[in-house]
Amino acid sequence: MQYRRCGWSGLKLPMISLGLWHNFGEIDSREHARAMILRAFDLGITHFDLANNYGPPPGSAEERFGRILRRDLVAYRDELIISTKAGYLMWPGPYGEWGSRKYLIASLDQSLRRMGLDYVDIFYHHRPDPDTPLEETMGALDSIVRSGKALYVGISSYSPDQTRQAAHLLKTMGTPCLIHQPRYSMFDRWIEDGLLSVLRDERMGCIVFSPLAQGLLTDKYLAGIPADSRAAKPHGFLKREQVTQDKLVKARRLQELAKARGQTIAQMALAWVLRHDEVTSALIGASRPAQIDDAVGALKRLTFLDVELQTIEQILVD
Ligand SMILES: NC(=O)c1ccc[n+]([C@@H]2O[C@H](COP(=O)([O-])OP(=O)(O)OC[C@H]3O[C@@H](n4cnc5c(N)ncnc54)[C@H](OP(=O)(O)O)[C@@H]3O)[C@@H](O)[C@H]2O)c1
Repeated sequence: MQYRRCGWSGLKLPMISLGLWHNFGEIDSREHARAMILRAFDLGITHFDLANNYGPPPGSAEERFGRILRRDLVAYRDELIISTKAGYLMWPGPYGEWGSRKYLIASLDQSLRRMGLDYVDIFYHHRPDPDTPLEETMGALDSIVRSGKALYVGISSYSPDQTRQAAHLLKTMGTPCLIHQPRYSMFDRWIEDGLLSVLRDERMGCIVFSPLAQGLLTDKYLAGIPADSRAAKPHGFLKREQVTQDKLVKARRLQELAKARGQTIAQMALAWVLRHDEVTSALIGASRPAQIDDAVGALKRLTFLDVELQTIEQILVD
């Protein structure tokens, strides 16, 4: 594993991190989940990313992760960076989603109980809230760090403007905003349009989620939709209709280039998001340990020739 410094902080993150959004809920195989977490840790993936609502059912990924931690990794707590988030709907009524101080602090308390932890390393506001004053949401993040329940805080899916404002508010309060967690892949490039430069200016780290476009940037769907894939599962966030001919044609062309580089499509897609200095880590998902091996293999060839980058641009715009 290789580690990158997270913005202008003392914290280093592995260049590949593992997220528990899919395949770690109550409905998934316990032994499978355990095998993936242990495989990841053995490969030097020290960072595991959760959220209050990961499951299904919501909360169950944190519970499962907590049980695996207690059973297998309790001796290694100081070698782990564990993150969780709040922002999406978690419980009924007016206090179970968005960005109020009431919701964020209650939700983190629940997450800590589910995981059996005293603190998380990073706590995120999961999505911008159009109604709550940003001062209140950032004030809650600042209080959370001061209470010792999180060592660092971050934001997810904030626009460039919102990010700048959040960073300034937190700086004024004396709690730097460590990191932004946006979606970024060859198939979704919105962060190139302003966000990356804000992160550079604000000296924040960046961990990009769904760098494999939920599996579309792998060889998974090239011969149809496998029965055990995310797109085939009723609770999967990748819908069958998102597996389009256009995406498959692009994936096939990317595969040819990846082969010439001695990589799989997934490895090339990960190296591609990591080509930006601002990107600290690529946050992958997995349904089996071999996919984690594949992802970590990307680090063997991170650089691109100009002509390779031009070919990728051409494939993506065609
Ligand atoms: N902040 C946010 O709002 C937000 C939103 C979404 C996600 N996230 C975070 O980002 C993490 C990663 O998201 P993601 O799971 O969408 O990431 P991803 O890496 O783009 O997709 C992971 C999926 O791709 C497939 N895959 C991975 N490696 C493969 C390989 N070598 N060959 C074939 N298929 C492969 C697997 O699908 P199959 O299951 O079909 O095998 C796997 O579950 C989440 O767990 C979560 O922590 C954050």
